[in-house]
Amino acid sequence: MFKGVLFDLDGVITDTAEYHYQAWKLLAKELGITIDRDFNESLKGVSREDSLKLILNHGDQTNKYTLEECARLAEKKNHYYLSTIQSIGPKDVFPGILALLQELKAHQVKIGLASASKNGPFLLEKMALTSFFDTVADPAKVPFGKPAPDIFIAAAKGLNIQPEECIGIEDSKAGIQAIIKSRALPIGVGTTKELGANIPLVTKTDQLTYDYLHNTWNSHHD
Ligand code: G6P
Ligand code: MG
Repeated sequence: MFKGVLFDLDGVITDTAEYHYQAWKLLAKELGITIDRDFNESLKGVSREDSLKLILNHGDQTNKYTLEECARLAEKKNHYYLSTIQSIGPKDVFPGILALLQELKAHQVKIGLASASKNGPFLLEKMALTSFFDTVADPAKVPFGKPAPDIFIAAAKGLNIQPEECIGIEDSKAGIQAIIKSRALPIGVGTTKELGANIPLVTKTDQLTYDYLHNTWNSHHD
């Protein structure tokens, strides 16, 4: 049986994936670059710095800015993003997530956060979820961001278990790849169009019950 669940945050625990998109869209517009929701799928799960590179590349501006200028642009995006998440609270936790966290605790399953976001701890506090998490992996301390497996490996390590003993839950392609490479069992939140047809998927977070996780685990481990 699985011993841990490693959660992504943005787009899995709450709707901040949308706020990241709106902040990037605003910054991109100022740079003369248009991004749409399709392109945004490639930004999901990707670090702030790498997202900026993808956007500049998308606008044929790959080498336009110095490293320092890029750092300032990334900070500007974060400023836009922070201004939209100040009022987030427990009411913004996606349906079913609080119940799942409670069920996991009741079954003594360990809980870890494997988010690429440096704002993760702040958001957990705002949503009053911090106490459910046995570990929060620090994205600033892992060598490579998603789609590399590092953050999921770090989160499993923080729980003192192997990634193979964990389920990872993600809403992004990069994140699903990272879970697969870490050897945890992926569950995607999204559609086959967004995440592919070869992994277990739910379209809504309230489908993420303990029973669903349990059955999914059993059907992949006989
Ligand atoms: C998550 C989100 C990305 C975001 C990244 C970094 O992975 O899905 O959209 O770019 O975190 O977030 P941060 O809050 O550190 O800029
Ligand atoms: Mg996400």
